[in-house]
Amino acid sequence: MDKAQILIASNRGPVSFSINEDGSLEHRRGGGGLVSGMISVATEIDSIWVCAALSEGDRRAAAEAPGARLDRDHDLGGMRVHMLDIPEETFQGAYTGVANSTLWFLQHMMYDTPNKPSFGSGFRRRWEDYTAYNNAFAEALVAGAADNARVAVQDYHLALVPRILRARRPDLRIAHFSHTPWAPPEYFRMLPDDIARELLSGMLGADRLGFLSPRWADAFLRCCAEILRADVDFRNRTVEYGGRVVGVGVHALGADEEGLRESAADPLVAVRRETLEELVGDTRLIVRVDRTELSKNIVRGLEAYRELLLAHPEWRGRVTHLAFAYPSRGDVPEYREYTDTVLRVAKEINEEFATADWTPLVLEVNDDYPRSLASFQLADVLLVNPIRDGMNLVAKEGPVLSERDSVLVLSREAGAADELGGDALTVNPYDTVETAEALHRALSMPAAERRARRERLAEAAVALPPRRWFQDQLRSLG
Ligand code: G6P
Repeated sequence: MDKAQILIASNRGPVSFSINEDGSLEHRRGGGGLVSGMISVATEIDSIWVCAALSEGDRRAAAEAPGARLDRDHDLGGMRVHMLDIPEETFQGAYTGVANSTLWFLQHMMYDTPNKPSFGSGFRRRWEDYTAYNNAFAEALVAGAADNARVAVQDYHLALVPRILRARRPDLRIAHFSHTPWAPPEYFRMLPDDIARELLSGMLGADRLGFLSPRWADAFLRCCAEILRADVDFRNRTVEYGGRVVGVGVHALGADEEGLRESAADPLVAVRRETLEELVGDTRLIVRVDRTELSKNIVRGLEAYRELLLAHPEWRGRVTHLAFAYPSRGDVPEYREYTDTVLRVAKEINEEFATADWTPLVLEVNDDYPRSLASFQLADVLLVNPIRDGMNLVAKEGPVLSERDSVLVLSREAGAADELGGDALTVNPYDTVETAEALHRALSMPAAERRARRERLAEAAVALPPRRWFQDQLRSLG
């Protein structure tokens, strides 16, 4: 593999391959501003993106063209993508077992603690898979990095990579960025001690660590102080550990306005919009768009809608709730159960309130990006109520595309509340009565106030576009 000056490592890569009927490979770029922002910076310098092969097509691409240079036709500007074919069992242990079923639950503080977690020998085996998976990424980065290259490692899947990489290649400049929240030490130390320490010290192999909110950065610093007994300077956000000083930064990722407007200009968005307009008629529209993800708090969101219809019956027949809940992580049993609950509660609400000419709630579970964009344009209210969220880009993308001055009802536990809290109606995500009242207030808000708030939200939402967010991280490596 030719060596690169900039390397990115993440579990899910910027493209996915599929196999055509004639056996040829085709690739599609993943959606989202984050991917385009990173690509747009990385392609200016010789770069490689290392990621896991997630599909049959990916695995073939990994075998046939390791480090494939993808051309401009596919919007990657000639960047190379290196897919790692990790053995299935190792991948499942690392991704489903440790990353999604353990670290994700931990950082979002959503364990049902009387029952879970329990760290037995099964978990220890999955931890070995996680270590092997991190080693495989480090190996590929070692092979692909030019002297003094800069490496940007992404997220909780790859917490051990910085330390492994530094041991092998002290010349590299390494950043690690966490896209999740970070749990405070009282919660984080639920992990077995040795593993908690391995995770923290693994990340501290980097030169710079990045978080989306000061709340998550400070929780990480507290973990370093209390669990590793590292020397932490809370004011300047540095950690001294193992004879090195690591800087911790906050980079509050914003929406990609240009990319969003471009995607929204797709004729398919107009088609979806028409369908939605027909569906909603002249009722007011409350929208939510999420993966069917436990941390997104969809069930309490639906319950809040029910509370609204009970406490303010004047809205019956005059409002529609469109809830988009796209499939996610079906390999994790809790996600499957959660999806069933979402479907059941949605059905109950319609059974309770629907009339011959009014459907109070429309729940869609199939992924349809153009439809999501159309719903942002049409929403009167956007509901974003996670129990905890690293950032939440829906809260930032909605106001940018809104054409009806949508009011944002936002959980104070989302990272996005740092920048948007002043102009959104913020709520405690566990309090469905408060959330219902916020929905009522949003629906009743005078036009001038809606407009003023929406304009300020849209401005705050794009303060740090993905491209600059990524440049800032690379720059912080010198
Ligand atoms: C979160 C994580 C990302 C991850 C995404 C989708 O936003 O921070 O790293 O890519 O969820 O999750 P998935 O498991 O489908 O890749």
